Order: sequence, then structure tokens, then C-alpha cells
Amino acid sequence: MKKFILFIAILVSGCSASGAAGPSKQDSPAVRAGLLLAEKSQCMSCHKLETKVIGPAWNDVSARYNEEIRSGKASENDVEAQLEKKIAMGGKGNWISVTGGMSMPPNYPKVSRENIRKLALFILSLRK
Ligand code: HEC
Repeated sequence: MKKFILFIAILVSGCSASGAAGPSKQDSPAVRAGLLLAEKSQCMSCHKLETKVIGPAWNDVSARYNEEIRSGKASENDVEAQLEKKIAMGGKGNWISVTGGMSMPPNYPKVSRENIRKLALFILSLRK
């Protein structure tokens, strides 16, 4: 009986360790650090990685801009600068079909320029 229970335990832990989607990026130290900064910066009342809250899902934001970079529509520098500016000043217009036209409030100077840059790079890294 003991052996049987051990066998089940190994089966179960084996399954969760190699879960269908493989190891989630969300568990990497870089992503955890990024999320911690985002929580401190009070972004997470309106954003999540996977789903829209009030603002668009950050995975979708990342996918859209990395696609623009890949297709040559925009340079990486331009995208970074654009996101930093938007996070700092807030605004609306890029995600109307997702948000129904909500605006992001300005986050600067509550969040420092340096941390805004870190957050922009973190969000871009999600779907690189
Ligand atoms: C009160 C809600 C709210 C908060 C707080 C908020 N956001 Fe947003 N965010 C939004 C909305 C709404 C949009 C969609 C804007 C648009 O349509 O262009 C958005 C869009 C974005 C985008 C995509 C910008 C674009 O032009 O594509 C990024 C990146 C972003 N937010 C990051 C952040 C970060 C980082 C923080 C924290 C410092 C933050 N947001 C805090 C509501 C919020």
C-alpha cells in the first residue's frame, strides 16, 4: 500500500512539473521581479499578464509590439520610447476595441522614469 501511494505521488508531481504548456515564463525570476515592480507601481489594479482588466493584457501588448518590430513596421527603440511615453503620460486610443475607450492615467512622477523604463522593457520581454 505504501508503495502504491508513493507511486501515485510520483505520478502526480511528474504531471505538474511537466504541465501541458511546459514551464511558464511567468515563473522566471525576471518576470517575478517585473511583476513585483508593477505591483509596487500600482499597475496591477488595471493590468494582468493574461487577461484584460481595465487596461489590455500585457501579453497582448507585448505580442502586438514585438510583431511590429519583427515585421519592420517600427524599430525596437521607437517602440520602447513610445511605450515609456505612454506609461508616463497615460492616454487612450491604441486598445479601444479591448478597453471600450478607457484612458490610462499618467503614472509619472508617481513612478520614476527609471522604473517606467524597466516596466516598458519588462512588458516587451513577455512575448519576445
Ligand atoms: C486606472 C487603470 C490603469 C492603470 C493604473 C495603469 N494602466 Fe496601463 N493601461 C490602461 C488602459 C485603459 C490602457 C489602454 C490605453 C489605450 O487604449 O491606448 C493601458 C495601456 C497600457 C499599455 C499599452 C500602451 C499602448 O499604447 O499600447 C502599457 C504598456 C501599460 N498600460 C502599462 C502600464 C504600467 C506599466 C502601469 C503602471 C505604472 C499601468 N499601465 C497602469 C489602464 C491603466
